[in-house]
Amino acid sequence: MANEITNIGVFTSGGDAPGMNAAIRAVVRTSLYYGKKAFGIHRGYEGMIDDEIEEMTSTSVSGIIHHGGTMLRTARSSRFLTKEGRAQAYNNLKKHGIDGIVALGGDGTFRGASEFNAEFDIPFIGVPCTIDNDLYGTDFTIGYDTAINTAMEAIDKIRDTAAAHDRLFFVEVMGRDAGFIAMRSGIATGAEAILIPESKLSIDQLIEKLEKGWERQKQSCIVVVAEGDEEGGAFGVAEKVKERFNHYDTRVSILGHMQRGGNPSCSDRVLASRLGVSAVEALIQGKVNVMVGIMHRDVVFTPFLNATKHHLEVSPYLMMLQEILST
Ligand code: F6P
Repeated sequence: MANEITNIGVFTSGGDAPGMNAAIRAVVRTSLYYGKKAFGIHRGYEGMIDDEIEEMTSTSVSGIIHHGGTMLRTARSSRFLTKEGRAQAYNNLKKHGIDGIVALGGDGTFRGASEFNAEFDIPFIGVPCTIDNDLYGTDFTIGYDTAINTAMEAIDKIRDTAAAHDRLFFVEVMGRDAGFIAMRSGIATGAEAILIPESKLSIDQLIEKLEKGWERQKQSCIVVVAEGDEEGGAFGVAEKVKERFNHYDTRVSILGHMQRGGNPSCSDRVLASRLGVSAVEALIQGKVNVMVGIMHRDVVFTPFLNATKHHLEVSPYLMMLQEILST
């Protein structure tokens, strides 16, 4: 039987995601609800190594549920990749009496947590926070819903100006190696084509689609390109298309980090609240080295290494839907 957890630490790490604050709030308040102490670790693994740790109260997390970013701030840490870095972090956690940790982040965060759990006796539970939605073991990650809505609103605006000028726009959305943001925001905005790393739409096929639109006298065209697409992102694709298809005046728009900011959507706030509560309860029950997620409405736990090795497929059904609706 695992030792009883009394002091719970929480940190955010990697790229921030809207809803992280709601998750921090849930972790702190649930810890206090169960009679535990709660500690905020600033700047992710960097703050763990540099001892930027403070005790938190219920009031520390007041008024944050609706804010994007993260009140604990975040970082990508190369020092935590070293044994010395992890040992220093462990000593700091011990100094504060922290005996359980909730890690809010994505694949890099959980790989670090898994390494740490293999070496030291302080259990980590992960909560999936990334706009990319690229983790296995949860239908949706915290931040994804807000990001796709932000992308959708931006693309709607681009559509207005595209139609006014009879233009073809290549809009690049985030998503590193995953096309989830591109697929959903593209379907929601009626994009003429969507390019994602998971499916190969060749330049020839793309031009064929655009030609059909031109024949139908479409006023504007939007091609949503995931940043991880192998044709070289929106600029790369635009260059290749322009060489052979120049019916429209062409523009490129990179949405970039605006997709990471903004007030979290209702779905993200509720998801963060649910997962934050479940993570603390899981720690108290003695779970370790797993990420908590929701699949088909149920709370499920997935070992860190499984969560980071794969991610759910972009649904072939959505791909088909896009094909039908963009003709
Ligand atoms: O993982 C989230 C994400 O926003 C990716 O979509 C993107 O590729 C990356 O982070 C950008 O990272 P940075 O903020 O370090 O430029």
